[in-house]
Amino acid sequence: MKRFENRVAIITGAADGIGKAGALRFASEGAKVVIWDLNEEKGLKTLKEIKDYGIDAIFDKVNTAKYNEVEAATKEVIEKFDKIDILINNAGITRDSTLKKMTPEQWQAVIDVNLTGVFNCSQIVSKHMLEAGYGRIINTSSVVGLYGNFGQTNYAATKAGVIGMTKTMAKELGRKGITVNAVAPGFIATEMVKKMPEEVIKKMESMIPVSRLGKPEEIASAYAYLASEEAGYITATVLSVDGGIVI
Ligand code: CAA
Ligand code: NAI
Repeated sequence: MKRFENRVAIITGAADGIGKAGALRFASEGAKVVIWDLNEEKGLKTLKEIKDYGIDAIFDKVNTAKYNEVEAATKEVIEKFDKIDILINNAGITRDSTLKKMTPEQWQAVIDVNLTGVFNCSQIVSKHMLEAGYGRIINTSSVVGLYGNFGQTNYAATKAGVIGMTKTMAKELGRKGITVNAVAPGFIATEMVKKMPEEVIKKMESMIPVSRLGKPEEIASAYAYLASEEAGYITATVLSVDGGIVI
């Protein structure tokens, strides 16, 4: 029997990047996979790749920052699969700028997706986990949430905030059979990192003890571990997967 057979996993931001690697990983290990993403074209492509594994899956165009969209999409998952076992709060954005130049719009956009989106999905989905007495919630923080980063006041605030949310949700939900953990990736080769100035990427790479950017699949492995039965006694933790970088 595969590790996630009979499990239903929602992964936000799974049309691309780390989330997509996570969706394919859960599918390859037998989970029914739900992709929530803004990007319909890439989302449908990922859905097809998952279905090629012979796995039942859904793509829904959802903006996780919108409470009503998350509510409607959750209803759809329950109607189709009857339960939700795993929630990976992976969707996230950057709007990098120095503090001096950051606009209120850049600040707010990142808060809306990276913090409010995590609140929306966690609150709405955990209601179903509470009813079932079982759940695994995994939030995506960042090395930037732990150490800060030049040009990312908004993003660092959200990724540090996600750690506070993780610990609080773990305290509230643990006695109901739900674990809540965070993964803090370092610099991973996705579209998000490709937007960085070339010289900054080079500088970051030179600071990583394992001497390379991470692969999306290496974060997917951490998601899968924390969602697995073996991790049943791990909650409220932050797992760094960053090649040893300390910025
Ligand atoms: N450390 C120290 N100084 C830096 C610096 C750094 N990392 N980056 C820029 N500076 C300095 C520049 O040398 C320059 O100094 P002077 O004024 O003395 O000349 C000053 O800051 C302004 O730099 P820029 O001319 O580049 O300013 P800008 O406004 O055009 O851009 C920036 C600034 C937005 C920070 C841009 O450099 C940038 O995008 N940097 C990358 C930010 C980054 O690392 N983002 C991570 C994205 S990936 C991600 O977020 C995933 C994750 O979780 C890890
Ligand atoms: P990415 O930009 O490659 O993919 C993000 C996906 O999220 C995209 O498909 C996008 O359409 C979707 N998305 C964005 N806003 C959304 C919204 N409001 N609702 C639904 N979907 C939305 O990014 P990447 O690199 O895969 O990042 C995934 C997560 O990992 C993010 O939370 C990011 O902050 C975090 N992270 C990434 C690191 C990296 O180096 N790439 C390092 C540390 C953390």
